[in-house]
Amino acid sequence: MKLISNSAERIKFKTMHMHPISKNKTEKQSLLANMFKSVDDFICNHLDLPLRPSIDPEHVLFGNFAPVDELPPTPCEVVEGSLPSCLDGVYLRNGPNPQFIPRGPYHLFDGDGMLHMIKISRGKATFCSRYVKTYKYMVECDLGYAVFPSGFSSFNGLMASMARVGLSVARVLTGQFNPVVNGFGMANTSVALISGKLYALCESDLPYEIEVTSDGDIRTIGRHDFDSSEPFISMTAHPKVDPDTGETFAFRFHVVPPFLTFFRIGSDGRKGPDVPIFSMKSTALIHDFAVTKNYAIFNDGQMVISPLELLRGRPPMRIDPVKVPRLGIIRRCAKDESGMWWIDVPGFNMSHSVNAWEEDDGETIVVVASNLSSVELALERLDLAQLTLEEIRISVKDKKVITRHPLSSKVLDMPIINPAYAGKKNRYAYAAVVGTPMLMVGVVKLDLSLSSDDCLDCIVASRMYEPGCTGNEPFFVPNNAAADEDDGFLVTYVHDEIAKESKFLIMDAKSPTLEIVAAVKLPRRVPTGFHGLFVSQSHLEKLCRDD
Ligand SMILES: [Fe+2]
Repeated sequence: MKLISNSAERIKFKTMHMHPISKNKTEKQSLLANMFKSVDDFICNHLDLPLRPSIDPEHVLFGNFAPVDELPPTPCEVVEGSLPSCLDGVYLRNGPNPQFIPRGPYHLFDGDGMLHMIKISRGKATFCSRYVKTYKYMVECDLGYAVFPSGFSSFNGLMASMARVGLSVARVLTGQFNPVVNGFGMANTSVALISGKLYALCESDLPYEIEVTSDGDIRTIGRHDFDSSEPFISMTAHPKVDPDTGETFAFRFHVVPPFLTFFRIGSDGRKGPDVPIFSMKSTALIHDFAVTKNYAIFNDGQMVISPLELLRGRPPMRIDPVKVPRLGIIRRCAKDESGMWWIDVPGFNMSHSVNAWEEDDGETIVVVASNLSSVELALERLDLAQLTLEEIRISVKDKKVITRHPLSSKVLDMPIINPAYAGKKNRYAYAAVVGTPMLMVGVVKLDLSLSSDDCLDCIVASRMYEPGCTGNEPFFVPNNAAADEDDGFLVTYVHDEIAKESKFLIMDAKSPTLEIVAAVKLPRRVPTGFHGLFVSQSHLEKLCRDD
């Protein structure tokens, strides 16, 4: 295993307890740090424009978006039903949880990654919450306050932007931190099992390998580059694992050509050669993609990154209202982009892919995904954004969209399927029902076989949470002896703002009401977050460790 830089070693042996400034910091470093902090305070207090809702910490961290402290493994009480005997393993969910209360602008995506993990074993449950000990986390933990700039929130007016750029350069030049060598990601978006190792991911950096310890705790191992022989500093937080071959497909986007790079990680954990996509003419903020048995499908949408915006004192991410979104289709085994083709799909801005597969002996590609149908709100008012779950059928021969229609009139996102069906035709999808403002108020099951121009809604089962309760992305855990695609459990965290308690819910995925099989009262609040993963005990025991 190749860990990146000395910082990874540092992370490995670092205590998990937060503490202020290191005792061995030299007087000169402390003086510089204090001076930089004073400059930072001046920028926040005097140069920042009034904070927009998307970067106002009071707005962003409201209610169940507020951060929590770490929690060591703590026994939990089953308060409803009983834990299914076949449910044996850990559920980990990632999400942003700022280590320090922001002193200035703060965006939802800026928070340090925190993993909330429930371990279920022989009918008993324990729960813990741990930060992913990223380089950013460790540097800021040493200092006692946040110093890393953010592409989403730091650029708030020309004067504040210029001052923050200058301050960051000064901090790097004086050795306060080195994001060029060590990365600057928060590892706050998702959890993935890639080639026998467990990772916390964020698309601005490389994945961080994590370990589930025997006592139900989480340990950060370090930043990982999959033994890449090419420069490699970031990858998507939504890699696609082929359950049959063990291969993983991933990509990264960049602000200089090639704006998109596709690559594969073998089942041995080694990254293959890059496939640069030069037919991408500018940087699109591509959060997710889709993979079938033979193809990878990318969405070149209207969320773009324009570094020149920085010169205007604005964030580099913006919406391009005149750009026509496209889908790019490339063979997943391609060594270059020569066979790649693009088709216009007006108004399609993929948030998350549900699944994709081939039909008609490979003549048709079917993509099911959530579409940010109000993309103009995606950056500044994500809390109000509308999402539509859509099915798009593409003719490989004619290289055009055959049909395209919504799967439900409800606002749905954070879609998932039975992971065994990734890249293969499947029937059932599950998704969170998104309320306003961006709170997940229920979960639904969709029958994709009902999809047609005439079908107004493919929802066949649903569960709306009690008033005051908000959920998260569901995850499908198959029953051990699963015979049917939907034979299994939906699991998720739900927080009750009225009772001030969080629960882990286990629902029967076959039931038309997604009946609650068991509910576990958690020892502490779980903030609303992003993506999760269930890892069975048998998988945990097989996880590769080579240190
Ligand atoms: Fe995502």
